[in-house]
Amino acid sequence: MDFAQELKSRVDIVSVIGERVRLRKNGPNSYKGLCPFHTEKTPSFNVSPIKQFYYCHGCHAGGDVFKFVMEIEGVTFPEALKELAERNGIPVPKRAQYADDESRLREAAFQMHEIAAESFRANLHGPAGETARAYLVRRGLKPETVEQFGLGYSDRSGHALSRLLEQRKFTGAQIKEAGLARNRDDGSFYDYFRGRLMFPIHNEMGKVIGFGGRGLSDEDVPKYLNSPETPIYKKSKVVFNLHRAKEAIRKEDRAILVEGYMDVIGVAAAGFRGVVASCGTALTPDQVRAIKRHTDKMVVNFDPDAAGEKAAEGKLPILLEEGLQVRIVELDGGLDPDEYCKERGAEAYRARLDGAKGYFHWLADRARSQYDLRTTEGQVAVLRYLRPAVQRIQDKLERMQVANELAGYVGVDQRVVLDAFKKSVADRNERPIEMPAEMVRPDEKGLLNVLLSDIEGRDALLDELSKIEVLQRLAARRIFQVILTVHAAGAPLTFDAVNSRLEEPDQRLLAVAVLSAEGEGHDFTLEYGMQCLDSLRRSDYQQRVQELKRRIKEAERTGNLAEALGLAQELQRLERRPGGTG
Ligand code: CTP
Ligand code: MN
Repeated sequence: MDFAQELKSRVDIVSVIGERVRLRKNGPNSYKGLCPFHTEKTPSFNVSPIKQFYYCHGCHAGGDVFKFVMEIEGVTFPEALKELAERNGIPVPKRAQYADDESRLREAAFQMHEIAAESFRANLHGPAGETARAYLVRRGLKPETVEQFGLGYSDRSGHALSRLLEQRKFTGAQIKEAGLARNRDDGSFYDYFRGRLMFPIHNEMGKVIGFGGRGLSDEDVPKYLNSPETPIYKKSKVVFNLHRAKEAIRKEDRAILVEGYMDVIGVAAAGFRGVVASCGTALTPDQVRAIKRHTDKMVVNFDPDAAGEKAAEGKLPILLEEGLQVRIVELDGGLDPDEYCKERGAEAYRARLDGAKGYFHWLADRARSQYDLRTTEGQVAVLRYLRPAVQRIQDKLERMQVANELAGYVGVDQRVVLDAFKKSVADRNERPIEMPAEMVRPDEKGLLNVLLSDIEGRDALLDELSKIEVLQRLAARRIFQVILTVHAAGAPLTFDAVNSRLEEPDQRLLAVAVLSAEGEGHDFTLEYGMQCLDSLRRSDYQQRVQELKRRIKEAERTGNLAEALGLAQELQRLERRPGGTG
């Protein structure tokens, strides 16, 4: 067995995927959840622990545990291999280590970031970190919080980190590509971060991939300097603190979304661990989906008035578009989340979280306070204000319900509201979902599953299969053909062996057939396989009888009596054949 195969047999796909997607057991051997690769409200993403693979009926994403890690993290096969091996404490043999440039570059970047984070921390606690330490004290951060978030300080000199990395045998080009240094005009280079308070940014697996560096005085511009885009840091995909917060987010079934690094730290230090931030960017669909893999309920707590501005600019509705239930926290006194937790305490903040208004009520309240609803102009303005948000609700029924409720809430005639939103309902084109599995008959599906289960006596079934004529007319005919080929070659008949020899449309067919059958809870015994085979034969026989009868009628109708006679004889032979009527 090669290393990849061995590793695959040792890692549990359900726990690997389960870390990223909330999965629910929905059969003896099947798990289901919301697909992380497209937006949906009802789960069509399936994971099979037995076949060790996943498949989404909605968007057709599917594959084994390596493919999942590759897709969700955007890494290469060797990287996925390495990550899974490391996480399971399995040493990677030399020959399985990667040779492609992309993986090597990223691996070097990860290593450099680890070294950088460590070096920044050491600076903070050493003599150079005095000002930064004083700043942290002034902002009321406890030493354990500083430690927990791995805060650090970047040396003012401008070459401390670069030199350290060069000593560790990284080249100048690598250091620059990792975003930790930049060029001077003369071609030499210097540290990207200098004299700043450093916030490490992690990916969801907890590896450092970048930094935010805060200036310590007002003269430092920009206030925050963030890592540039690098092979391992893609700003639009990262959610700050998600790797620490995700456990609490799942447990509480709620994510708290704030704006900045300091807000995350302040709120988490007050005891609310399920808190994340997008860090300076408008939220992207990738970020929203990363959060949504852990909960579909979000409490948004932006800086004072930022929420209002963002709602007005249409930046909040992206959350609705991705199907999240959104509530909005409003804090009094013009305080941001960090300040509020420090000044009013955790209990006060909890009360604010629990009392957060549903997004649409919050929006309607804003509308009511801005326009005069006694006038027609005011009513029109309110509808115009609310419309973009309502239009973004994915689910048609829910959209109409919200429209209805809003009509009552703002006191506008229901018919007017419904008219205003009806058009937007018609405008949307909802994505139809194909279901190729429907074409695979239940007996066909059953047979496939039995053949791919490791059961005693499977050979007899394969012999029978090779003989039946119906094979060529089945939807899964190419899959059966491959099964026979693999078997004839004397190779072990496994899901992987068959799957890897199929073209993509057939891979889909197989995936759906296997997963949908597992949800039905049949026992894939030899006996069941024989029953399926019989049923296939029987229906084939009936189909052929009908076909012959149709052609006889047709020949008689057109006066072609010789042909009719020939067909009638064929029908007789067919009906006499043993097993035909069985
Ligand atoms: N931000 C940034 N670049 C800037 C300003 C802000 O990337 N020049 C991002 C940072 O991620 C920051 C967030 O936007 O954390 C929110 O900005 P701000 O409210 O100014 O910062 P806080 O995190 O609240 O920090 P502080 O409390 O120190 O002001
Ligand atoms: Mn802030």
